[in-house]
Amino acid sequence: MYNYRDLGLVNTKEMFEKAYKDKYAVPAFNFISIEQFNAIFDAVIEKRSPLILLASPNLHKQLGFELIARLAQSGVDRLRNIGIDLPVALHLDHGMNFEQCVKAIEYGFSSVMIDGSMLPFEENIALTKKVVDYAHARCVTVEGELGTIAGEEEGVSIKTNGQYTDPAMVEEFVERTKVDSLAISIGTSHGLVKIKANPDGTFPELRYDILEEIEKRLPGFPIVLHGASTISSEYVEMINKYGGKIEAAMGIPEEQIAKAAKMAVCKINIASDGWICAMAHTRRILAENPSAIDSRIFTLKIRPILAELYKKKIEIMGSSNRI
Ligand code: 13P
Repeated sequence: MYNYRDLGLVNTKEMFEKAYKDKYAVPAFNFISIEQFNAIFDAVIEKRSPLILLASPNLHKQLGFELIARLAQSGVDRLRNIGIDLPVALHLDHGMNFEQCVKAIEYGFSSVMIDGSMLPFEENIALTKKVVDYAHARCVTVEGELGTIAGEEEGVSIKTNGQYTDPAMVEEFVERTKVDSLAISIGTSHGLVKIKANPDGTFPELRYDILEEIEKRLPGFPIVLHGASTISSEYVEMINKYGGKIEAAMGIPEEQIAKAAKMAVCKINIASDGWICAMAHTRRILAENPSAIDSRIFTLKIRPILAELYKKKIEIMGSSNRI
């Protein structure tokens, strides 16, 4: 059992204050492999960006909270060893119940999300408040969610088409739960098909009007965007070229993410773009090296490719040189 401060981590409070004031978003990257983990640190070191490492309950099934916390600590140690002091938070992504949040906090997570968005309003408030009370007593920050973000991701499946956040509900939710940040639904979604092109070939826009209304009602309060990957056709085509089968895929255009980052959005979650980039290049490298038996044939090569992807995300969110 750890205290996150002993692991060298910070909670998200100060990160979000700075991001809100200077109009950028802190990158929140999911990782499921050591290559992704290392590439994320390569990118933030080069770009001098604050970082939120996202670990889902599914990652806990894969690695266990102990190893996740120790990995995060090793990332911070790497920074210290090269004399770079940039803030790193370890955040439980989509905590689905109180017990998961408690366990993450006990293992040294500095921030947790409690996703009560599928519950009725009063139940969402009660659950979120229970987590906030536990977390705040330990100086851990909490993200809640209002409105549902459609799609399936990391074992979290939402069968509806998503439901935009109702701005009229946010003040009461934040006031009663005392949550530190809020994930909202303005048109992003989990998975590979997030939007469909309009008949004239243009793309539907995120609902910036909802975001603006929330910003007016909650001045200075940090908003979170989930499901924000771009799903580049380059990786989808590479996956299909080397034996994969992805039929329809389209994410959120980069300029829409950049615009949200300049508004009240202080944290932007990216998972799928890292997954498909790694998968595309792994398939390519394996096809080009059919007799390979050592997985390092691809792991060593995809780390710098992933680092380039994460650096680009940092640029889009405006978080470089913020430390
Ligand atoms: P993407 O699947 O769009 O990368 O979203 C990730 C996410 O929101 C994790 O919580």
